[in-house]
Amino acid sequence: MPSNDTVNILFIGDIVGKPGRNVVKAVLPKLIDHYNAELVIANGENAAGGFGITEKVAEELFSYGIDILTTGNHVWDKKETLPFIAKEPKILRPLNYPEGVPGTGSTTVKTKNNQIVAVVNVLGRIFMNVLDCPFRTTKEEIERLKKDTNLIIIDFHAEATSEKLAFAFYLDGKVSAIIGTHTHVQTADERILPKGTAYITDVGMTGPENSIIGFRETEVIEKFLTQMPKKFEVPATSAILSAVHIEINSSDGLARKIERISIRQF
Ligand code: FE2
Repeated sequence: MPSNDTVNILFIGDIVGKPGRNVVKAVLPKLIDHYNAELVIANGENAAGGFGITEKVAEELFSYGIDILTTGNHVWDKKETLPFIAKEPKILRPLNYPEGVPGTGSTTVKTKNNQIVAVVNVLGRIFMNVLDCPFRTTKEEIERLKKDTNLIIIDFHAEATSEKLAFAFYLDGKVSAIIGTHTHVQTADERILPKGTAYITDVGMTGPENSIIGFRETEVIEKFLTQMPKKFEVPATSAILSAVHIEINSSDGLARKIERISIRQF
């Protein structure tokens, strides 16, 4: 039985299109019950047709039990995102955008058991638009957040495994968990790092399983063969939900456990 100084959090990997939203709707209530989760975070930057997020899609995901949505390199893909992200603190854009960009890269939320948890969203720089240094920007932000809470969860949205690992070891012991997103393929390296931070290189995708990272294979293969631009579609096939359950000690903010979750919906 979990003790009452334990905070249980679910982090759902990148939700892609309608198949991704549907599997969240079908599975999330059972996961919340099973893990006694008091906070659910999900990366939603591909939730609207595979590219970006809209207000309507965000509201739909909140209604399924998600508390905080993170994003990444696709955050601005839908032009209507700009006005609502500026006034919606439950949707994060990467913290390391230059000063003056709308929205916020971190937020604090009170869980249903009255724990204050901070969530931070950061973008890597390898094979990405080059933003401010994710390492230094996040470290400064953590120092600020520590005045309110030592329960801190980071979504590090990045392509390269080496950058994700370096970021995780740089911040080990300073935050509760660093969850990698963006590659859409779940890695099997979840663990507690030496100083107590839970880590996984990539939590994986929540979307159509028989696809190329969420998109129908035909157009993606065609693009590789011809190098011509192609419009990618999210196929309406059975979906997979990828997530992690993180168990945190509320007194020191360090992780006790991280467990991979991978559920197929037929
Ligand atoms: Fe991404």
